[in-house]
Amino acid sequence: MQTVDYIVHNAKEIITLKGDNKARSGKAMNELSIMKNSAMAIKDGIIINIDNTDTIKQNYLPLQWIDAENTIICPGFVDPHTHPVFVHTRENEFEMRLQGKSYVEISKAGGGILSSINAVREADEDYLFELAYNRINRMIECGTTAIEAKSGYGLSTESELKMLKVIKKLQEFMPIEIVSTFMGAHEFPLEYRNNRQAYIDLLINEMMPEVKRQNLAEYVDIFTEAHVYNIEESRKILLKAKELGFKIRMHADEIEAIGGAELAAEMGAVSADHLGACSDEGIKAMRDAGVIATLLPGTLFSLRSKSYARAKDMISAGLPVAIASDYNPGSCNLDSMQFAMTLSCLQMGMTPAEALTAATFNAACAIERQDFFGSLEKDKNADFVMLDIPSIAFIPYHFGSNNVSKVYKLGELIFSRD
Ligand code: NIG
Ligand code: FE
Repeated sequence: MQTVDYIVHNAKEIITLKGDNKARSGKAMNELSIMKNSAMAIKDGIIINIDNTDTIKQNYLPLQWIDAENTIICPGFVDPHTHPVFVHTRENEFEMRLQGKSYVEISKAGGGILSSINAVREADEDYLFELAYNRINRMIECGTTAIEAKSGYGLSTESELKMLKVIKKLQEFMPIEIVSTFMGAHEFPLEYRNNRQAYIDLLINEMMPEVKRQNLAEYVDIFTEAHVYNIEESRKILLKAKELGFKIRMHADEIEAIGGAELAAEMGAVSADHLGACSDEGIKAMRDAGVIATLLPGTLFSLRSKSYARAKDMISAGLPVAIASDYNPGSCNLDSMQFAMTLSCLQMGMTPAEALTAATFNAACAIERQDFFGSLEKDKNADFVMLDIPSIAFIPYHFGSNNVSKVYKLGELIFSRD
């Protein structure tokens, strides 16, 4: 008998998502590998085994029993696209959109990303940390056990480094995994509006090398879109990022298909995100290059878009789809991956099973953590949530409140409703 820290038993079902350890597409996105009458043995934050309850009881001696009380257990949600470090929220833009203004119009009129810059430049690290800490805690309450977090509201060397240091401190003090991305190419700061090339030079010659030197980010991201970075500018910045040893992710073809998806394929990006307007060629190029499509339906919902990314076409073309919140102060102030699943089903036609795969295993692939989490399997992290629901379809079906009752990260209980 092997001693373990605890055994989780009495779950209605354990939704393991066990399967091939690479991003899933096509039919595989509907295969959740559901286990009934099963239990999990956990030691040192790792799943030692998941099997039939009797087999687990015969083989492991737990220091503690955890009664799942007939809840459904699934992997913790992974949110592979967030912007949680900023000062003030921008609900004024929400009201402007209600009056019929578009995101691009608001940005061009001095709102948008640029309206978040000054306050971030002026804020000290501790204040930014405290704000982001509270925001990420709300994500945790909604079942998120890993996020990707970007800089991009400083747009100067000093303030971008400050944001990344805040993310580093969050990595240290928060109980979930946080993957860091440098996004100095989120916009052009006002002082470079008439000299874009000079800002690109700054990104290339100073900001990215310094971020690398201080080892503050794993990825470089860029907002490739008609009103921000065009394809040529994006290519130049991303080539340098690769040369410096960063991995690439992109905001691509959110509003207009300008070839962002194709560029993501050319650059070997890990993920291309948004893709609300992505073309057929873009879908094929991404599939062939192994880029994951991370879709952000919350953003298009919040922007009052009539159309959404073509998730079903992507899935049937063999392109793996992940989903994320895109939590940010402007276009999408969404904490909950559960609601991202609701929108994936209602607005993009995904099945609840596809949406769950997109929010867990494929999302883990989109931050290259699939060896550690995203599915519940032997030797992976004990990152799981308990949901007091009758079936998995209930997650997207029941929206507007939290279906998650308990959240475990590396075997530790990090949120409990009671
Ligand atoms: O993903 N697209 C760029 N970044 C955010 C918007 C950020 C903002 O408006 O502050 C996004 O939608
Ligand atoms: Fe974003």
